Formats: sequence, structure tokens, C-alpha cells
Amino acid sequence: MGYCILSVREIRRSLQEAFVDFDASIHASNSFSCHLISFTSTLIIPAMDQSGDHASGSELRRLFQLSRRFGVFKTLSVCLGTLDDRHLRSFDRRYRVRTSGHLELSKTSFDSSKLRHATSYGAVNAWAFRNLLKELNLPKRLRFADLGCGLGRACILAAEYGFEKVTGVELAHELCVVARENMSRCRLTPSAVSSVSIVQADVLDYCEHTEDDIFFIYRAFSLEFFRTVRKKLAEIAAYQNKSVTLIYTERLSWPPSHEVRELSDDHAFRKIYETSMLGQAFYVHQCGTQF
Ligand SMILES: C[S@@+](CC[C@H](N)C(=O)[O-])C[C@H]1O[C@@H](n2cnc3c(N)ncnc32)[C@H](O)[C@@H]1O
Repeated sequence: MGYCILSVREIRRSLQEAFVDFDASIHASNSFSCHLISFTSTLIIPAMDQSGDHASGSELRRLFQLSRRFGVFKTLSVCLGTLDDRHLRSFDRRYRVRTSGHLELSKTSFDSSKLRHATSYGAVNAWAFRNLLKELNLPKRLRFADLGCGLGRACILAAEYGFEKVTGVELAHELCVVARENMSRCRLTPSAVSSVSIVQADVLDYCEHTEDDIFFIYRAFSLEFFRTVRKKLAEIAAYQNKSVTLIYTERLSWPPSHEVRELSDDHAFRKIYETSMLGQAFYVHQCGTQF
């Protein structure tokens, strides 16, 4: 219960800070959504404490910014996604795997000289990504790679969708071990499971010899490293004279991150789709020749 009491205090303080910051600019029409968001934050924040994060004004600010930009229903769907990921873990239960939660890479064997170019482990919202794949309706003959696959959640969903070949690339040895375990025990058909391989490598080394067509990235890298990876993907498309699809995703936020802004300004890529579901924003871009 200790964490609950702490959270309530922190919630109050954070709410006061957030109200002070936003009072001046929040219009009357949004006050209903603010009340709803503050109520929902009381549900979310204990969940954050449990996962080791600290309830912070910045999370609350994020909720306020989202509610102002996207409205109350979208913001509540963000809360729902967070609750599911941190408490309900519906994907893990349904697929009999272990992919939920958050992990600092400094606590793993991740190459310490590369840590400054990496973020941390967290899995994509499964239901949002599953839905995205249905909406995109990409040809199943294409080869899919998750650059920074962590515990393999996106690979499981890509295999379930039916891509012919699915590769998860991950540098941290421990994460690769669990990702492989997940593949062997998850609720997929044997042919879907056999389409997946988990490769322990740095994504740049992997990209030296890849023939994949679709590259998935969930906010895995620093801005600088993300730039280098994009350059590499554009080179692959040019060298192999084909079209390469990049699905970049991160938690929905406002204003958009530097990564999202840079990606949309990158002349080597053109945006073909953008959407957000359950707090997960997806930016789908292509480079190279048309399919
Ligand atoms: C936010 S997690 C994404 C997990 C997974 N893609 C998903 O959506 O469920 C990012 C992952 O990228 C990995 N990563 C970061 N930099 C990497 C690199 N240079 N090479 C390989 N993996 C890397 C991290 O170890 C981490 O597991």
C-alpha cells in the first residue's frame, strides 16, 4: 500500500503543477476532459509505480497535452493501452508469452559502448500493431524485420499476420534468449513459428546483408542512430533497386518527437500512412522504387 499513498500525494502535487501550467490555456470546453484525465491518471499512476517508474508531473502533462490535442476519447484510449500493458498484460496471457514490462538496457549485457544510442526495452501495443497490419494489408510474400526486437512481440504478430520471413534483430543476449523462448511456446501455427528467426546482432551490422522489405522500429535508438539507420535503409533500397517500407512507431505524444519530425522531413522517404491506436502512433514510410 506504501506506493499507493505516495502516488496519491504525488498525483495531487503533479495535478496542481499541471493545472497551474495549463489553467491559462485550457478552454472551458476541455474542462470535462481534464477531469476525466485526472481521474484516469489515478488509475494509471499506481501502475507506473509498480513497474519501477515514478509518478511524475511529466506523465500528467503528457495526458493533458494529449487531451487538448486529440480530445478525451483518444486520451482515454491511451490510458487503456497503458493499463493493459502494465497491469492486464492481455497479450502475454492470450499468447502464453512474456513480453510486457519495461527494462533498462544498462541492466542487461547490451554492449555498454552502444548504450548511448539505445533507449530501453518496452513492447509495442500488441492490439494496435495487429490492427495496423490488417489495415496496411501488405503482401504476405514480403520479408519483415524488427530492428530492436526485444522480447519478440512484434515478430509474433508479424508471423501471425503471415509474412513469409520474419526476423527479430536484438543486441541484448538475455532479451534474445527470452524472445526465442517466446517463439517456441507462443500460440501460433507451426508454420508461422518457423517463419521467425531471432538474430543477436547490432542492427547496423544486420542491415549490411539484409534482403528484407519491411523494417519495423519502435523508438529503439537515439536520434543520431535513427538517422544512420534510415540512411542505411535508403541505401538498401537503391542498391537492391526495390521499395523498402519503414514502420516507425512510438507512444503517442504531442508535440511529435524529433524522430517523427525528422522522418517526415527526410526526402529519401515518403509517408504512405499514419495512424494511432491505444496510445501507439505509427508512421509508415517508403523509400526506393514502387512495389
Ligand atoms: C523499445 S524496444 C522495442 C521492442 C520491440 N520492437 C517491440 O516493439 O516489442 C527497443 C529494443 O531495441 C534494442 N536495440 C537498441 N539498439 C539496438 C541496436 N543497435 N542493435 C540491436 N538492438 C538494439 C533494445 O535492446 C530494445 O530491446
